[in-house]
Amino acid sequence: MTLTVPLSVYAQRRAHLAAQLGDGGIAIVPTAPERMRNRDSDYAYRHDSYFHYLTGFTEPNAWLVLTADGRSTLWCQPKDMEREIWDGYRLGPEAAVAALGVDEAYSVAELDQRLPRLLENRACVWYPFATHSGLAARVEGWLAPVRSRVRYGALCPARQADLCLLLDEMRLVKDAHELALMRHAAQISARAHVRAMQHCAQALRAGQEVREYHLEAELLHEFRRYGAQAPAYNSIVAAGANACVLHYRADRAPVGSNDLVLIDAGCEYDGYASDITRTFPAGGRFSGAQRALYELVLASQEAAVAATKAGARFNAPHDATVAVLAQGLLDLGLLDKNQHGSAQDVIERRAYFRFYMHRTGHWLGMDVHDCGSYVEPGEIGAVQERKDPLSGETIKDRPSRILRPGMVLTIEPGLYVRAAADVPEAFHGLGIRIEDDAVVHAHGCELITRGVPVQADEIEALMRG
Ligand code: GLY
Ligand code: MN
Ligand code: MN
Repeated sequence: MTLTVPLSVYAQRRAHLAAQLGDGGIAIVPTAPERMRNRDSDYAYRHDSYFHYLTGFTEPNAWLVLTADGRSTLWCQPKDMEREIWDGYRLGPEAAVAALGVDEAYSVAELDQRLPRLLENRACVWYPFATHSGLAARVEGWLAPVRSRVRYGALCPARQADLCLLLDEMRLVKDAHELALMRHAAQISARAHVRAMQHCAQALRAGQEVREYHLEAELLHEFRRYGAQAPAYNSIVAAGANACVLHYRADRAPVGSNDLVLIDAGCEYDGYASDITRTFPAGGRFSGAQRALYELVLASQEAAVAATKAGARFNAPHDATVAVLAQGLLDLGLLDKNQHGSAQDVIERRAYFRFYMHRTGHWLGMDVHDCGSYVEPGEIGAVQERKDPLSGETIKDRPSRILRPGMVLTIEPGLYVRAAADVPEAFHGLGIRIEDDAVVHAHGCELITRGVPVQADEIEALMRG
């Protein structure tokens, strides 16, 4: 499998989507806007994932329109020598038909003029709801001229529908091209974690100062060195107790030899994300308490991995994780047996939540928290209400998604122990997460991120190297 996605794959995706639009359906898919960071400096441009999934096109100011008969029209930036001198190459509509395999292409400057004509006599307009600010108003704006022509026999679409419903389901199961890109992104990210770990131990051994941003620099170096375009999300590099802040950013805290360091970082390669967390002893050796807690998180991850296979529910890895953590928290004395009872009691009363307050995974794909419903579509109505034992809120549980081959999810248990009088001091300020990316197969799952080890002994060996 090469990493270049053939044009025919995008054409097949468009055809598959068009076939679901229904008689007289038309779909409008914008790419992402360019965004200013401050004054006239913009953020690095990142295309919209839905748009890229259907076109492979990465320029800004572009739209795809698809009709139920399978015809595709692209609007893109026109060729403009002056703008290209400042901003770079533009494909332009003349070349777009051959380069992208669409049926027609026009300058984006013609969108407002041409699109109302395309909307005439259609039954339903599909576009992604609640994802692009101002899009619903733009669709209204294009429908107004259609309505004004009803006297001349034009029919105005009577329905609007959320295109995310269709595209999310398509993107949830990855094809072979997507999996090849995801494996590649995962390998680069694994190398980056190895590099950061090794740099940390070597620099501390040499008596050099190590700060969180030094380790972030090692990650970024490796991402770019292997051609990844960007981090898939803000890298977390957390030294010591900073690891207990779930959305911590790589900042400037010094890394001490006795600290654990938690790194949650992954690159994006050709539009696909990877998402890895490793927690390692900065100086290269786990202390007794660090290792005990680490081994517990790892055991919970192993249970989650074993529960990840086609036919199992999305929640199965989470439930497997929680079962192991609940028992381990009692065994390590983080939860008092006399107060909390058995592991089953810990689970039912969610007493583990103090130390493990997030879910065990999420879909992964073009977006790091990828699209796709977590509820099994055929069972949406099977609601079970329960009272949350901590907040008292009423929660509606619906049967979680049944895993299918080609779905990709993260498996990322953790424990976060803030200093408190009722917690053994050796565990104070330890934050541990272990995160791998899993492709679902018929009888199990493939961990595509194991280019960086997880076993405590292997991490120590790697850091000695
Ligand atoms: N790095 C984001 C996450 O793990 O969900
Ligand atoms: Mn994740
Ligand atoms: Mn992560």
